[in-house]
Amino acid sequence: MDKLLITGGKRLVGDVTISGAKNAALPILCAGLLTAGDVVLDNVPHLHDVATMLKLLGQTGLAVQQDGERVVLNGSAIDKLEAPYELVKTMRASILVLGPLLARFGEAKVSLPGGCAIGSRPVDQHIKGLQALGAEITIDAGYIYAKCKKLKGARIVTDMITVTGTENLLMAATLAEGETILENAAREPEVTDLANLLVAMGAQISGIGTDRLVIQGVPELHGASHSVISDRIEAATFLCAVAATGGDITLHNTRTDIMDAALDKLREIGLQMTIDKDTIRAQMDARPNPVTFRTTEYPGFPTDMQAQFMAVNTIANGASRVTETIFENRFMHVQEMNRLGAAIETDGNTAFIKGVDQLVGAPVMATDLRASASLVIAGLAAKGETLIDRIYHLDRGYDRMEVKLQAIGANISRIK
Ligand code: EPU
Repeated sequence: MDKLLITGGKRLVGDVTISGAKNAALPILCAGLLTAGDVVLDNVPHLHDVATMLKLLGQTGLAVQQDGERVVLNGSAIDKLEAPYELVKTMRASILVLGPLLARFGEAKVSLPGGCAIGSRPVDQHIKGLQALGAEITIDAGYIYAKCKKLKGARIVTDMITVTGTENLLMAATLAEGETILENAAREPEVTDLANLLVAMGAQISGIGTDRLVIQGVPELHGASHSVISDRIEAATFLCAVAATGGDITLHNTRTDIMDAALDKLREIGLQMTIDKDTIRAQMDARPNPVTFRTTEYPGFPTDMQAQFMAVNTIANGASRVTETIFENRFMHVQEMNRLGAAIETDGNTAFIKGVDQLVGAPVMATDLRASASLVIAGLAAKGETLIDRIYHLDRGYDRMEVKLQAIGANISRIK
């Protein structure tokens, strides 16, 4: 298993190009199942999760051609309407094949995702929504079996805001008969990116970007081209890194208009930013200020940035409070940060952080994707060596992170 060795204390200086967003690319790849035409995608990031998704899609008979950041999909020969446990257990986003397969072929068999390091993460809302669209769903031996003659439009109000739930139901509704209304829909920019691709494929969707999506089903969708939106979480992760180490970096290929909540907190931290449409220059010369926040759905503060901001808070010039409201167990990084000398206590879903003068490097263990990123940030700021184990979590969702960090002066290397 690969590890990352970091010698902390270096200022970060230079340029970073941000990749396409993981959480947009994964549903967008599944949209290739909805049509027999070519779906041509650009800005697809090099991630382990993308490779897993392409493997899963390939097993259905979807033709996949990959050349750098371009992926071309063709769904004219899909013949296996299944997502097996072996792949689903490694990536929960595999559930996103359920809606498209069912809508286009009237049948799907998808393994139930199991538990997860950050919470129980059930998929009951995906199932409830598809049932409302007329699917017959049974669960047997760990698999979801879904069947329908033709999905029929319906009004669906999910019990909570769910990102992949909205995406699954949105894709299914594009090919349902009649009108579907998705109330309480997730407004994350990644949902909007998927909706924009679906419209380019001939879907009729209004209310894009709002919590009420109205879809008029069409008999079929056609091929289209699309460039995956920039990864706002990757961008904000690099900004947290420079906030923690000090330095002067410029991010390219960003979408600053979808990062308000994180950018506001970074300003509060004391990061000096010069923001253009798709670039951010970020300079930091002082000790960070502590920031208190609670995670919420978009446009609120993203849960996927909670751990990285906590890393900055550990060395801030004061105390802060972080409340996680989306997932019930997303504080696994706390104990690891404390191993580096941080002073964090938790009470339920709130963490209380007292900024310390200096973190000190130590061996630590990555537990999930964003926790891994937060440990990289802590390691970059710490004195001495930090060895991060289990970094396959990081590779799932960050495109060559250590290479990008090396290019801006970090002392970080991968140990095979
Ligand atoms: N939930 C249910 N039932 C459902 C669906 C969700 O109870 O049927 C609950 C979840 O357990 C959670 C809350 O609703 O407590 C929100 O979960 P959501 O469904 O929105 O999460 P997700 O779609 O599984 C996506 C991202 C996550 C990100 C969350 C929240 C993808 C592939 N994943 O997950 O990304 O944290 O939305 O924004 O889009 C990551 O990138 O590190 C990551 C975990």
